[in-house]
Amino acid sequence: MCGIVGYIGTKKASPILVNGLKRLEYRGYDSAGISTMEKDEISLMKDMGRVKNLEELPGINDLEGTIGIAHTRWATHGKPSKENSHPHMDNSKTFSVVHNGIIENYESLREKLKSEGYTFYSDTDTENIPNLIHYYYQKLENEKGIERFLKAVRNACLDLKGSFAIEVICKDFPDNMIVVRKDSPLVIGKADGENYLSSDIPAILSFTRTFYLLDDLDFAVLSRDNVKFYDSDLNPIEKEVKSIEWDAVGADKNGYEDYMLKEIYEQATSTRETVGTRFQGAKTSFDELDFTKEYLSSLTRIYIVACGTAMHAGLAGKIAIEKLSKIPTEVDIASEFRYRDPLVDEKTLCIFLTQSGETADTIAALKLSKAKGAKTLAISNVIGSSITREADLSIYTHAGPEIAVASTKAYTSQVVLMNVLAIHMAEVLENNDQTYLDSLKKDILELPEKVEETLKISESLKDFARKVYQEKDVFYLGRGVDYAIATEGCLKLKEISYIHSESYAGGELKHGTIALIEKGITVIGVLTDKDLIKKSVSNLQEVITRGAKTLIITNQDFDTSAFDVVLTIPETNTFISPVLAVIPLQLFAYYVAKEKGLDVDKPRNLAKSVTVE
Ligand code: M6R
Repeated sequence: MCGIVGYIGTKKASPILVNGLKRLEYRGYDSAGISTMEKDEISLMKDMGRVKNLEELPGINDLEGTIGIAHTRWATHGKPSKENSHPHMDNSKTFSVVHNGIIENYESLREKLKSEGYTFYSDTDTENIPNLIHYYYQKLENEKGIERFLKAVRNACLDLKGSFAIEVICKDFPDNMIVVRKDSPLVIGKADGENYLSSDIPAILSFTRTFYLLDDLDFAVLSRDNVKFYDSDLNPIEKEVKSIEWDAVGADKNGYEDYMLKEIYEQATSTRETVGTRFQGAKTSFDELDFTKEYLSSLTRIYIVACGTAMHAGLAGKIAIEKLSKIPTEVDIASEFRYRDPLVDEKTLCIFLTQSGETADTIAALKLSKAKGAKTLAISNVIGSSITREADLSIYTHAGPEIAVASTKAYTSQVVLMNVLAIHMAEVLENNDQTYLDSLKKDILELPEKVEETLKISESLKDFARKVYQEKDVFYLGRGVDYAIATEGCLKLKEISYIHSESYAGGELKHGTIALIEKGITVIGVLTDKDLIKKSVSNLQEVITRGAKTLIITNQDFDTSAFDVVLTIPETNTFISPVLAVIPLQLFAYYVAKEKGLDVDKPRNLAKSVTVE
């Protein structure tokens, strides 16, 4: 869980690299470092802590090199320390390497290299890589020119088991850099006489809008005005240049105090973007999909597989997909699914939901499903992300870059897109009343306006947050789709405010949890499904009797006099009520975390993309 940046051009590399790292801090921030090509040697500067510490290192502004690599780390192998931070160099200081990912066979590689006389100065898996490259480089001494460097990198990579995005510079080739990726993200931004590298597009979007996307084990040899690509056998290959239309401002805070707040307030726009033009014809259009009536009728099951917030969006999406397509649909946590030998075959459609498209468990679950013969559909927010290149089919949420670690607008866009997909399936299957489907489409199209309204209404929760921020436990309750919403609201509070919280399906309460309810404890109830309101109200009565104070999020009209705080949001179809009902819960979590003075964008122990298992 790290971020990497690279630059090769005519400008001083170090400020470009440091700025790029700052934009990637969401991927990790326990240490940072850079290497630049300085006259006839490679410089190395690194330190513990945030990129700011690196920026303040004496001498960093004196670096003149116009080629460099940089890294912001989130420790996996080896504790956060200066020694363990990247870049790492080989013993002879010929190569410098930054790496994002995990080398699973690092112990055996280390033993092998030690037996060849190499010494290790860190506890990392990464330090193997420059030494392994050096090992092969020595063996290739009869090779001439850049071929020797390229072959050494390639031979080293073939020895690596695990995931990696790697940038390498070599003292003997001061005008080149070599990069490669496998199961970890890396993009190359192409500009005039210079090239940029990054773990994600937004970090370098202010420099260029044209990108090359690398597939697994594609090798790229960069010079200032050229990039040459090779496959894993080192045959030259061509790569298409992709243009990105995102606005660079879209990736900035845009005047908001935090990315999370900005992203919460972007949800009217992002949900609108998600729907796009899909409802413009008489039937929902998904040109990217090849779902025929025959194919959908042949399905015995749909799995929605994801992690964290995306999995919670899956819980909400399941309800719409199963009800509208009438195909049994299950939601599974990717890290469980991949190890339980799931019953998946060609009659199964597996949907993988992931904002980043880089979550290791979700990608592994997809590979497993593919191997078992299922059709795989990736739903991601990041164009060209790893998962979309593995999946048979891909569709995008188009929510725009999500920078805050806590996912907000990606969740609402995922819920919207799964509903649009559910309508599409029902239309292809012709097994639903079209008038009902059209009314759901209308409700979806009205969401952005209702999101705006909900945002305004939810601001009143600041007061409630002030009453709750010092508490130790908060409980969330709901039934049906409201349970899915409660679960996501609960995660939001946990991850950014560090308050212990639990979500329960209302009916489960009396099977154990009610033992924890005592005077003064806060219980938040989500009540948007009118068919289940009475049941949920009676669960809430049970906690009120035991002294709980309650906040209710509802869009229904019923007797709410028993509750302490009632927030009434706009009504909509139950399938899409998570899009509105989650907003007060996102803002509540945000207000609580701010009240506690916490860094909401970078909560402790968390990184934006979990690219390792
Ligand atoms: O990029 P993904 O959607 O695959 O990420 C999945 C989870 O890691 C992510 O949703 C995580 O739970 C967020 N921090 C929640 O806010």
